Amino acid sequence: MKEEVIKLLIEEAAKARNMAYAPYSHYLVGAALVVPSGRIYTGCNVENASYGLTNCAERTAIFKAVSDGQRHIDAIAIVGGPMDKAPVGDREIVIPADVDYAYPCGACRQVMSEFLPESGDIDVIVARCVTDYKIIKLSELLPYSFSLNE
Ligand code: THU
Repeated sequence: MKEEVIKLLIEEAAKARNMAYAPYSHYLVGAALVVPSGRIYTGCNVENASYGLTNCAERTAIFKAVSDGQRHIDAIAIVGGPMDKAPVGDREIVIPADVDYAYPCGACRQVMSEFLPESGDIDVIVARCVTDYKIIKLSELLPYSFSLNE
């Protein structure tokens, strides 16, 4: 993935994080993914008083893309952290260095594995800001993912 695209995805994920609806956990997450055409889709976590109904930022972005007709994801960036340590609207340093990267949960990893690109793997970018990030392949995060082999 080109560095300029990586940085753009991180910026968009940080912006999407500002939209997070997380009144219960106060943990705000934003995600931004890019599809083969270069189009970007973003999402945030959406919590619910019935806790189990919460939707993660990654799946929000994926469901937006898929409901818009997309079927392949090249890369997805995730920016997450607690509200007290990383309030919304901070454009410079988004997540402080003492906060761990927000790795995608198991459910989101499985959902990502449904929409692999032609290359066969997705770049998962976990980031604090545009200058502080790590890229991991989905195959590394979720080996032996469930598939119907259809
Ligand atoms: N969350 C995400 O949005 N993505 C992840 O990968 C992990 C967790 C959200 C769900 C919930 O709203 C909050 O973070 C705390 O678990």
